[in-house]
Amino acid sequence: MTHRPQRPTQPHLLAAALLLAAAHAYAEPELTPRPASFLPRQGVLVLRPDESVACPDTLPACHLESLSRASGLPLARARGAQLPTARVRLLPSAEVPAGTAVPQGEGYLVRVTPESLLLYAATPAGHQYGLQTVGQLLAAAPRTDGTLHLACAEIADAPRFAWRGYMLDESRHFSGKAAVLRLLDAMADYKLNRLHWHLTDSPGWRLEIKAYPRLTAVGSRGSETDRRPDAPAQFYTQEEVREIVAYARDRNITVVPEIDMPGHADAAVLAYPELDGGGYLQKGRTDKWPHFTFNPARPEVLKFLDTVLAETAALFPDAGVIHFGGDEVHFGWQRWPELPEVQDLMRREGFTRLEEVESWFNRRMAGTLRTLGFKTGGWDEIAARGLPHDQTVVFWWRHDKPPVLHAALDAGYPVVLCPRRPCYFDFVQHADHTTGRRWNGFNPLDDVYAFPDTLGLNAAQEARVLGLQACLWTETAVTQARRDFLTWPRLLALAEAAWTPRDRKDLASFRARLPALLDRLRARGIGCYDPFTHSPEVTDAQTGKPQAHLD
Ligand code: ACM
Repeated sequence: MTHRPQRPTQPHLLAAALLLAAAHAYAEPELTPRPASFLPRQGVLVLRPDESVACPDTLPACHLESLSRASGLPLARARGAQLPTARVRLLPSAEVPAGTAVPQGEGYLVRVTPESLLLYAATPAGHQYGLQTVGQLLAAAPRTDGTLHLACAEIADAPRFAWRGYMLDESRHFSGKAAVLRLLDAMADYKLNRLHWHLTDSPGWRLEIKAYPRLTAVGSRGSETDRRPDAPAQFYTQEEVREIVAYARDRNITVVPEIDMPGHADAAVLAYPELDGGGYLQKGRTDKWPHFTFNPARPEVLKFLDTVLAETAALFPDAGVIHFGGDEVHFGWQRWPELPEVQDLMRREGFTRLEEVESWFNRRMAGTLRTLGFKTGGWDEIAARGLPHDQTVVFWWRHDKPPVLHAALDAGYPVVLCPRRPCYFDFVQHADHTTGRRWNGFNPLDDVYAFPDTLGLNAAQEARVLGLQACLWTETAVTQARRDFLTWPRLLALAEAAWTPRDRKDLASFRARLPALLDRLRARGIGCYDPFTHSPEVTDAQTGKPQAHLD
């Protein structure tokens, strides 16, 4: 290994740093999410500015870049002669020394000794998560004269849940590419691995579909608070989607698109009126969403949706799951009995109830997704629609309906837990906050942290929980500043709740780490609510009158 010449270290500074590092060895460093296990070891590893990292060629460059940023050392990929002697090494699980548990899946083992920092994992994801942890260790390590003094330790870590997600509603108000890329960076910092991208809904259609250009030329104009037909078009081009998906993939984040059907269809119907299946006929809301549903039985509508899903599938090749909504259909199906195609379907199939039409439609579209090679994701209404358990992922959102959750789990569906309380981040997070939803209470940080243990699921049920997800509905979030304010720091609490094993969760420890985490968010240009200073609420009041979410 070649070393760049270094200035001699002043002995008293080095002694102080070593003392500090030794003290650190006995206190668990501030890692978020808190790892499954942390064992201090004797000694200190001194890392120099010329250190390089031996890692697979396939490791995306962004991980070494963030390690360099965190450490302040220019940690480059080891090349040529550096490779055999590099002291920071990413190794396969197979090389874990005998007697030590071998990491699996997204898990990893970090072993810091006075000689080296070895990071073992079975998968690229495990290596990436290990590097996130190492980055946090290096950022906090004492330093002198450009060297870092890392207390020796062994960290064995693996996530509690496979799905650690965040849903972003782009329809009510549009975020745009720059905000999404920044969000993905912050998600990766905390080992979140799913972006559920709510791209279509009544206020706006946000995904370019080449076969149906009016979806974006017409359907993407306006938002929840701007209903002008000539409002600017706001949507993601297919090229932008590919870029975002690749950016996310480099950070081990899977982007799962949602194309909502058969409800929440107004924007699509505005673009193509022949898709219409009618909307609300409810008291006081007759004209809010008059074209809320697709006609669920018209062959041209099914062909349209098949085509949209095929283009979507091509844009998200490794999503695994495509979410097709399926929620709140009964809010707008009142005109279905008048539609000739629905009448024909009901006669042909012997249906007597609209639920049967909805189930038929769901099975039809789930069949399309299956043919395209994807599982079907849907809101929890779909758990009662007879879809196959091994091809369906249920998103439990109705917190006031625990029996729906229990029925889905007991039936064998994998379930993502994202109940309104505490996972909908459009709910307020402090008693003083004036804008945002409440429903017999609201969603403070501590409730997010305590989730899902507050549900009291038994072990068999928990085994079918795929994971946790926060959802940001954006009716009341016109600006990015407000979207950030609603999201952070609650998403940090969700990240730890989704990753850290139950017996290692510790609210006091999380809260003690939080001030530094808020600083780190701010350094990324991300705003947040500061619970320590009770920072002023960001309300978007200047933008008009945001409406509450449909339910
Ligand atoms: C939902 O909040 N309608 C899923």
